[in-house]
Amino acid sequence: MKEETKKILEKYNQQHILEYLKLLTEEEKNELEKQILTIDFEQLKELYESTKRQPKIEEKKIEHIPYIDKEKISNSTKQELEKIGRKIISSGAYAVLTMAGGQGTRLGHIGPKGSYAINTKNGTKYLFEIIIDTLKRAKEKYGVTIPWYIMTSKENNNETLEFLEEHNYFGYDKTKVTLFLQGELPLVNIEGKIILDKEKKIKEAANGNGGIYKAVKNSGLLDEMKRDGIEWIFISNVDNILSNFVDPILLGLTIKENNKIAAKSVAKNDPYEKAGVFCKMNNKVKVIEYIDLPSEMAEQRDENGELVYGELNISTYLYNRSIFEELAEFKLPYHAAFKKSAYLETTGKIIEPDEPNIYKFEAFIFDTFVKYNNITILRVKREDEFAPVKNRTGVDSPETAIKLYNEFYKED
Ligand code: UTP
Repeated sequence: MKEETKKILEKYNQQHILEYLKLLTEEEKNELEKQILTIDFEQLKELYESTKRQPKIEEKKIEHIPYIDKEKISNSTKQELEKIGRKIISSGAYAVLTMAGGQGTRLGHIGPKGSYAINTKNGTKYLFEIIIDTLKRAKEKYGVTIPWYIMTSKENNNETLEFLEEHNYFGYDKTKVTLFLQGELPLVNIEGKIILDKEKKIKEAANGNGGIYKAVKNSGLLDEMKRDGIEWIFISNVDNILSNFVDPILLGLTIKENNKIAAKSVAKNDPYEKAGVFCKMNNKVKVIEYIDLPSEMAEQRDENGELVYGELNISTYLYNRSIFEELAEFKLPYHAAFKKSAYLETTGKIIEPDEPNIYKFEAFIFDTFVKYNNITILRVKREDEFAPVKNRTGVDSPETAIKLYNEFYKED
């Protein structure tokens, strides 16, 4: 290993890595060295130190966020908005992006989450297939094959590609499908030390769905969008099997409100539903997690009996392409999660810990919204647009999602 590489390790208190060299072949050493040189240790040090700091108490002025309820839009306005949106979609300037770089730990499916199959009234369907079903319906309706971008991570990119190839993209035009990779960050243990995996590489993991902005830019996808004349991109999760991602009304409304970002919400079921809500914080748009919402605010109702902080974030967003350049430069906060992760000992043994032992750092896509005073919020009917597959059983599980799916498509 070169002196300068050793110096980096020393500077950042990561010399323990040198003790592994005895286990490595020359080729493995070269690979490890290359990997070390790609890591931003300064950033990693800051992230680790942030796990020990108490969160700063900032002056926070939390307020309700204005929204439009889709159900309450008059027919004539609906028609007007639909016309604006339809024109853009039919012109080929609209694309759909699915975030599929996550690990799907809670569901516990082996392989990319999109390759998880559920039994619906329309037969057994994979999550990716359900997305393609919607894209195909849009093709019939708008006469265009909408480009579909899929964000993957190193961990699942190859498998995702193989899966889609094996299923022949479920009959969708594969030239309109682009996979792109999100970034990664090393895991660190409780002492802030990086760890090695069984392949004798530094163990890294996807940097959260907030990695999307840099990934869109650095992967070349942003250039591809510009080249193809894409102006609007709808972004949602891989696991919402009712995601209505080709929505001319949302698009029309966003344009009419003169915003560059829009998000759909559903009304919170009860004050303590475990999900983030949209609000304004110090006049900026913010998604506030349920644990951070004081109970008196969580329970506060307006004169119509509606929760004041009741616009649940269902992770369905619309973006104007022009803002990606600046969003890629936005310094997102990272959230540290303390998790269990196997690692290699200097003896060559793999240790499978029983207790959490590492910090994983993740950024969230919605944390850029604080850049804006306003975004368009469209409240939609939960049973029409939100059926997440998150947990193996219980709430937001295949069982609950299938029920919602079957009900929604009961006429098919
Ligand atoms: P979740 O936070 O629900 O994570 O991601 P997950 O990976 O699906 O499941 P758990 O938490 O491990 O059980 C919401 C969406 O963001 C994507 C996921 O694929 C999902 O569509 N995501 C998450 C990424 O694309 N990259 C990430 O690094 C994390």
